[in-house]
Amino acid sequence: MTGASSGIGRVTARDLAARGDTVVMVSRGGGRGAAVAEEVRAETGGDVHYLAADLGRLADQRALVEAFRQRFDRLDALVLNAGAYFAAREETSDGIEATWALNHLGAFTPALLLADLLVASAPARVVITSSDAALMARFRWDDLEYRERYQGWGAYAQSKLANQVVVRELGRRFAGTGVAAHAFHPGFVATGFGGGDGFMARLIGVAQRFFARTPERGADTMTWLATADEALATTGGYWADRTAKPHARGARGDEVGPQLWERSLEQARVTPAERAAFDRVATAAA
Ligand SMILES: NC(=O)c1ccc[n+]([C@@H]2O[C@H](COP(=O)([O-])OP(=O)(O)OC[C@H]3O[C@@H](n4cnc5c(N)ncnc54)[C@H](OP(=O)(O)O)[C@@H]3O)[C@@H](O)[C@H]2O)c1
Repeated sequence: MTGASSGIGRVTARDLAARGDTVVMVSRGGGRGAAVAEEVRAETGGDVHYLAADLGRLADQRALVEAFRQRFDRLDALVLNAGAYFAAREETSDGIEATWALNHLGAFTPALLLADLLVASAPARVVITSSDAALMARFRWDDLEYRERYQGWGAYAQSKLANQVVVRELGRRFAGTGVAAHAFHPGFVATGFGGGDGFMARLIGVAQRFFARTPERGADTMTWLATADEALATTGGYWADRTAKPHARGARGDEVGPQLWERSLEQARVTPAERAAFDRVATAAA
């Protein structure tokens, strides 16, 4: 599970470990991640592991997948929760806008490159943390990376819309494999999210103090999607409070999925061999 070092991710990691699941917690190295994994191990007595990856970097996305494969031979639930809001436009070392690189490609690439392991472990699931922020978003197809007129909130909302499209596409492409994919909205949660400079970040901080729900409540649907049998009965869904909801309007329609998929393959620099490997896994069962 990514984004496991704080907020709702830490809660779900703890709950999964307490259930007796083997949990692999992922966050950026050099920070709190390894210590938090140690805390979760101590709190639960569970089988808890830690892998470091800066998921905004393409090389780290791949290195994470490789490190995981070297240590584990099955994957029952891939929980892709890492995400952030960037008040000012930044680019990663790959030259990709930071919100898109982390919130979208940081979920898309691991899901794509771990598809064979998921299918081999079926029944299995992919869970991506989206947000109702996507409700007001539309894809800027001619400027997905906000090179012009950057708005932190717009870039964030678009990345969360992409999360919903990715689970719809995974649901379609994984049909018949026994792998379900779902996105969810955790609610407005009091976490470290949005912390930092800028008007929106300060506004989020103030609003969290008065209106936000606890990380435990925010994590509940994520843990449920990662573990409940009900979440395997359907796929491609969007959820909040364990209840299926319609996808954001901008995520609907038959063309948006394939269009985003193609663009993402290019941006994530997926090789023809990796692409063919994914297609083989997905179509083998269809
Ligand atoms: N809080 C809310 O109200 C709310 C509402 C809707 C959706 N969400 C979504 O919920 C998810 C979790 O957020 P949260 O509220 O729990 O916030 P949080 O406490 O800030 O947690 C964010 C997690 O993402 C990780 N992360 C950030 N940048 C990363 C990077 N470059 N590479 C790898 N990991 C990175 C962080 O780990 P390190 O910093 O230790 O690397 C941390 O574990 C996010 O996707 C967020 O967009 C939150």
